[in-house]
Amino acid sequence: MQRPWIITIDGPAGSGKSTLGELLARHLGYLYFDTGVMYRALAWVALERAVDLQSAEMLIDLAHQTVIEVQSPHQDDGRPYTVYADQHDVTWAIRTPAVDRTVSLVARVAGVRREMVRQQQVIGRRGQVVMVGRDIGTIVMPDAPLKIYLEASLDERARRRVKEQQERGLAVDIAQVRADLARRDALDDHVLVAAPDAVVLSSDGVAPADVLTRVLALFADNTPEPRRGYGL
Ligand code: DC
Repeated sequence: MQRPWIITIDGPAGSGKSTLGELLARHLGYLYFDTGVMYRALAWVALERAVDLQSAEMLIDLAHQTVIEVQSPHQDDGRPYTVYADQHDVTWAIRTPAVDRTVSLVARVAGVRREMVRQQQVIGRRGQVVMVGRDIGTIVMPDAPLKIYLEASLDERARRRVKEQQERGLAVDIAQVRADLARRDALDDHVLVAAPDAVVLSSDGVAPADVLTRVLALFADNTPEPRRGYGL
């Protein structure tokens, strides 16, 4: 029986996409590819080099020049993967509030997106991959056989972010986190749309293990024909 070998998971920040993606990839023995890290790595490089974030031209040049790599974790410090930007390990550096604040500006530039999408497609087309992002089902891998769009309310997403940050020892204010998420939703709005053939799931009040079970059932039901060019 043929099973889907590219699974896309899209949805807003804090909806549980990364947790689901990681669990699913581990369960299936697939590559977990969180595409947001590419935009984050680029934002980090832009901050490091003090690039003018209002200059689309400079950001596009940076996207073409920067070598971003995502590899299996090479350190046992809780990381799900290691991210390199021009050979610097930026795995944790791309999770700082400074990058959180900047990344949407970088990700809004059409020329930056074109280059990131191109690089993501190269990895996605190798198959056996769970790809997580915003536009994966619509733009990056529109032919993927199984597409999930994961939603959750703003309040639930804010609670999760606070918990995550507290676990990392950061002091956080829930009102601030909620406002930041709402702001990011507005900035990500241009890509936040479910593909017409995506299965829309809500993770509100649902444990990650239960979301996983649901998606595994969809995976088992999904028996597409092999598609040319997807590594089979
Ligand atoms: O999922 P995340 O919070 O790590 O994403 C970081 C930023 O990148 C966020 O502003 C949305 C953007 N992004 C995007 O535009 N397209 C993707 N495929 C993934 C992320």
